[in-house]
Amino acid sequence: MSIHVPLSAVCSPASKTAVPAGRPGPLPARLVDGLGRTIDSLRISVTDRCNLRCVYCMPEDAHFMPRRELLTYEEITRFVRIVVPLGIRKLRLTGGEPTVRRDLPELVRQLAGVSGIDDLAMTTNGIFLKEMARPLREAGLQRLNISLDTLVREKFFEVCRRDALDKVLAGIQEAEAAGFSPLKINAVAIRGFTDDEILDFAVLARHQAYQVRFIEFMPLDANNAWERQKVLPGREIIERIHARYPLEPVQNSRKEPATLYRFQDGVGGDIGIIPSVTEPFCEYCNRIRITSDGKLRTCLFSVRETDIRGLLRGGAAEEAIAATVAEAVRTKEPGHRINHPDFVKPARLMHSIGG
Ligand code: 5AD
Ligand code: SF4
Repeated sequence: MSIHVPLSAVCSPASKTAVPAGRPGPLPARLVDGLGRTIDSLRISVTDRCNLRCVYCMPEDAHFMPRRELLTYEEITRFVRIVVPLGIRKLRLTGGEPTVRRDLPELVRQLAGVSGIDDLAMTTNGIFLKEMARPLREAGLQRLNISLDTLVREKFFEVCRRDALDKVLAGIQEAEAAGFSPLKINAVAIRGFTDDEILDFAVLARHQAYQVRFIEFMPLDANNAWERQKVLPGREIIERIHARYPLEPVQNSRKEPATLYRFQDGVGGDIGIIPSVTEPFCEYCNRIRITSDGKLRTCLFSVRETDIRGLLRGGAAEEAIAATVAEAVRTKEPGHRINHPDFVKPARLMHSIGG
């Protein structure tokens, strides 16, 4: 069987408009890159620290930035206020693990108070959610994605190097009880690791009505563990689930990298794949990122960064900072080059980029 959904059917293409001509000039009301992609989403990494050590993300002896390098909550919020007039509407907090940063609900509260932001989400490993889901919700966090690569305790230890599966499962329950719904569960799909749990994850999506999404393993890992043979293609996952629990595509107009399916019998939540390696969606990309030390990255795989912290701390005018962002976006990379022989991994490791 094969259910083929063109990516264009599930990711609404970024509206194609002409690149603003001439610079310097008045600041654009929208951030549009050189390929006509409109950028309306900012991912904010709030720390490079983490309470796990996932093998595809961090070395066991990871080195972390000194705290003074990190943007303060006030600096992050000031930056967000500068980019909202440029068209940023969606924020996602990432890490490392965002909940290990002290007093995270305070940042959420500040960001929730910025008018013009209509989506405030976070990606977490879930360990601290038992304590933090409610304070985060009360502070104004709207959506949660929780990373969970396996439902088996020993395998969790193998991939995350910590024995914390029970904590994550308790965190997921608490997040649901706190009103985060529908919850998204993200599993990195690795050949030889994920294969035997695909149907268990499908059952989870059916019983708990979670949106379970499989992310193809990308070459961003610290240990050089990535090999092409370890990529478990999203399409294969969908075919495996479809053979047992028939699926149908969800027509999805959101600007999201996930291709979504639902169960034909109407049971439970959705299954999603994020086929970054086998079916890249870079031409629909609508996002930029800022690292915890205040560097703007226009691609997950960027080898170039733009220093925002220096501008924020050096007393630069808001217009100058906005113009710097617009210029970085103008030259945003067309896409990652994982499938090209000249691919170069970014020097920064995943835990300090922020997924
Ligand atoms: N490939 C794919 N996904 C990754 N993540 C971290 N490293 C990788 C990688 N090399 C995912 C995490 C989490 C999100 C922050 O990014 O599992 O879901
Ligand atoms: Fe931590 Fe997420 Fe990296 Fe795992 S993938 S080490 S949970 S930041």
